[in-house]
Amino acid sequence: MDKKQKIKLLESKIEESLLGGGKDRIESQHSKGKLTARERIKLLLDEDSFQELGMFVTHRTNDFGMSAQKFLGDGVVTGYGTVDGRLVYVFSQDFTIFGGSLSEAYAEKIVKIMDLAMKNGAPVIGLNDSGGARIQEGVLSLAGYADIFYRNTLASGVIPQISSIMGPCAGGAVYSPAITDFNIMIENTSYMFVTGPNVVKTVTHEEVTSEELGGALTHSSKSGVAHFSCANEMEGINSIKKLLSYIPQNCEEEPPKLPYEPQDEIRPELNDIIPENPNTPYDMREVINLVIDDTSFFEVHKNFAENILVGFGRLGGKSIGIVANQPAFLAGVLDINSSVKAARFVRFCDSFNIPLLVFEDVPGFLPGTDQEWNAIITNGAKLLYAFSEATVPRITVITRKAYGGAYDVMNSKHIGADLSFAWPTSEIAVMGAKGAAEIIFRNEIKKAKDPEAKWKEKEEEYNNLFANPYIAASRGYIDEVIKPEQTRDRLIRGFKMLENKVDKLPKKKHGNIPL
Ligand code: HXC
Repeated sequence: MDKKQKIKLLESKIEESLLGGGKDRIESQHSKGKLTARERIKLLLDEDSFQELGMFVTHRTNDFGMSAQKFLGDGVVTGYGTVDGRLVYVFSQDFTIFGGSLSEAYAEKIVKIMDLAMKNGAPVIGLNDSGGARIQEGVLSLAGYADIFYRNTLASGVIPQISSIMGPCAGGAVYSPAITDFNIMIENTSYMFVTGPNVVKTVTHEEVTSEELGGALTHSSKSGVAHFSCANEMEGINSIKKLLSYIPQNCEEEPPKLPYEPQDEIRPELNDIIPENPNTPYDMREVINLVIDDTSFFEVHKNFAENILVGFGRLGGKSIGIVANQPAFLAGVLDINSSVKAARFVRFCDSFNIPLLVFEDVPGFLPGTDQEWNAIITNGAKLLYAFSEATVPRITVITRKAYGGAYDVMNSKHIGADLSFAWPTSEIAVMGAKGAAEIIFRNEIKKAKDPEAKWKEKEEEYNNLFANPYIAASRGYIDEVIKPEQTRDRLIRGFKMLENKVDKLPKKKHGNIPL
């Protein structure tokens, strides 16, 4: 074979690899409303930036007639490229080849780019669309999964890992996305479950569709497994890009900054947000949007545990992580799901040097057997633990209620917040005035001629004494009581002051967060 023929051979191999499982299977993928593995990479990465690795890898199985069925690339496209000029590693599962199922050689391709990503400090993005373990390969495929899970774990907190589920993801295969930092799902074309509807029917006699059991809406609202539910693949890929714009390349770097010119930071509209009646709800998103840079709030886990809001934003051009009680949903109470949701977000931000801003309006923890029996104690402690061990700059703004244990948990100064502000409408106390009056003035109320009137009187007395920010401020637990309109200004100054914060946890192997 001369040089020209050798180049021709290479070209034909490249062509073969680019075709994946063949034209028919590509058409079948499109007919389901799905893109191919390569089309997804093209949409994700900057033009011409993709450098593929392992294009000619094939599987090594001869059982079940597999030696006659080899596809170049073996069902996963792997490599690196850039998003907005920043390096990322990517693997994209190709459903057109053996249903995107994972073989030994396929797993090795993923492992290779994960190892490169770790050594070079850049995010890994997994575009998942796979029938799971390649059945013909048996334990080799299970070993391949375990090699990936192990690396997901070692990479956690070192480089950001983002999973997008764009087709089936079943069995143990769900555990790689579960370990990664964010899961993005596509409505109606993706699903995740440990056991599918057929097994569920056999074991529990429940009849459920794949979509109901493990679709995007289920996981983004009921289980919380998915952080984003997107209407289509384009929206999913745009969410990955947006997410990357807020986060650093690795745990040694600072998050990206946008240029920002200081201007008038006073926001008078904030003065009108808190309703006159302390029990009337308001939307904390309005507060967030008025305080941070215009349109910069990128909400994570929007449809899950809506009584707490978490997401990224920018303040004076700098990335911040926001955690906020949401009085418009369940009065902003803390419960199991909201505690777990916020704790995971706080730990992500802390791992990747993203300062934390907390807006607090919380009446306490949710009472009830459901919460107690499902371990609100352990789960609530996760949030307490997550804030307590976070060493990034941390600022809290109390807008209204800060009651009970929830006052401590929501990034109080006692657990390490650097600065704490309160609006004049703040109520910082052990519990609400009605309940407090009932307990501490029980006898007086019982003996009164008009117990109702006495109760009201005592409630007011307690309210006047405690339902304000000044006792906490007199102790220094609140650094400043501010007018709502001053919030943005104080936060920009505060985070600037904290820019070079260095804080270290005591030497340990690792803590033991209450899981
Ligand atoms: C080998 C597979 C495969 C698999 C699908 N294919 N899954 N080949 N191993 N796991 C092949 C099919 O044989 C078919 O090949 C092609 O991919 C497309 O599959 P279809 O069934 O035609 O597609 P569709 O109707 O869209 O259904 C997709 C599917 C279904 C829901 C994913 O294929 C399916 O249920 N597959 C099996 C899923 C599974 O049980 N996986 C193992 C899970 S256990 P042809 O040549 O006919 O087109 C697991 C353990 C991981 O993953 C453990 C980690 C710890």
